[in-house]
Amino acid sequence: MKITFPNDFHWGSATAALQVEGATDIDGRGASVWDEFCARNPAKIFQAATPERACEHYYRWEEDVEWMATLGHTSYRFSISWPRLFPDGKGALNSRGVDFYSRLIDRLLQHGIEPNVTLYHWDIPLPLAQQGGWENSETVSAFLEYADTCYRLLGDRVKLWSTINEPAWTTLNGYLTGLHPPGKTDRKAALLAAHHLLVAHHEACAITPSGIALNLSPVYPATSSQADTEAARRADLILNEWFLEAVIRGSYPNELVKLYDTLGLMPESPWPLRRTEPSFLGINYYYPHHARAGAAGTTFHINNTGNPQEDCKFSLEGCFELVKNPKGRYTDWAWEIDPETLTTLLQRVARQAPGIDLYVTENGIGLPDRLENGEVDDQPRIDFVSQHLVAVHQAMENGAPVKGYYMWSLMDNFSWINGYKKRYGFLYIDRETMKRTPKKSAHWFADIARSGCLNSP
Ligand code: BG6
Repeated sequence: MKITFPNDFHWGSATAALQVEGATDIDGRGASVWDEFCARNPAKIFQAATPERACEHYYRWEEDVEWMATLGHTSYRFSISWPRLFPDGKGALNSRGVDFYSRLIDRLLQHGIEPNVTLYHWDIPLPLAQQGGWENSETVSAFLEYADTCYRLLGDRVKLWSTINEPAWTTLNGYLTGLHPPGKTDRKAALLAAHHLLVAHHEACAITPSGIALNLSPVYPATSSQADTEAARRADLILNEWFLEAVIRGSYPNELVKLYDTLGLMPESPWPLRRTEPSFLGINYYYPHHARAGAAGTTFHINNTGNPQEDCKFSLEGCFELVKNPKGRYTDWAWEIDPETLTTLLQRVARQAPGIDLYVTENGIGLPDRLENGEVDDQPRIDFVSQHLVAVHQAMENGAPVKGYYMWSLMDNFSWINGYKKRYGFLYIDRETMKRTPKKSAHWFADIARSGCLNSP
């Protein structure tokens, strides 16, 4: 069966500054918290990888834009590096940083590719991180100075802005599992940091209407028992609703406020949450969760080796334990592949935020791709993306106003604690030479983006 997307549907892929740019100490860029975290904790990152070179996009951006055009992109989602603009986090502006993004945006527009620009994709300037990072309310003020600068200097050409990438995931790993910087395991700090990220979103949105990219993983009960159903509900509130409601309604879910209050965890900040209307909601969807009750302790583990025998684990004492779906299909990094959930997720968000445009701002699969005889046969990526596009189309048929799809990612990149083995790109990156080679999926996607049609698998 052939399915057709509207003519103005945005087709593209996404990247983030730290994951692709490299050039971490060039042209006045300051250090980011991730540069320092990787240097200080090599054992936490697969094969002690660092973002120092990444994909050298900072030098090869012209070629990369050519590739986007070749791959039929009508839009490109990327992030601005805050430390490239403000090496100290605030104060003096580094004009060479602005010039880089200004040239990139101009070139995209010349090719008819609409920029979708994220202000913050986790690379907080190191000096701000050292003064408490997102736990410090002054970081919000610094962020607003940075956001306002971007809006003023680039806003004549950028129509799609996102404020923050995945406030939930960066909070979870920065402050609960400790796997990402600042490497804390402190629930109170987590809620305070999350609060300031959400405040930063609304305050920036009040300057210039913007979207936000939320990581949302719907939670199913592991069994039909009442205890597991309640555990799944709790997990959904903690991991999804806390952030979704804060963005849509400018307030936190009552049920959880009561619980956090009892535990003395509610954030105390001079910045209250206020309500602004997002110009769109970006949804980053990779996998659903399955939860069961009876978590005796707090444990966590992320498979960052790509060894298919290794599971991911996450449990929050007294709340829930995330478990594997016995019927599920999994990637080598133990992420479940479940396209149908994307349909219900998009419909759920459409119901909760009526009248707001939705974009799938990230969706993709990490694979151990290999270049053989000059080609990369990534059929599993084609299967993954086509099944998820069918799911998006289904949600649209059911009334969800989805305006675009960005595959993660344009190119294989620095996959945070997974280093470089976990490859996500349409473009294969040779780690020695940095040569870009389009994978089989890249050619496949170009045809779909150009025709707007997909043969449903
Ligand atoms: C999202 C992030 O969480 O997922 C991306 O916004 C990230 O930056 C992507 O790379 C895939 O996650 P990972 O950890 O496998 O790279």
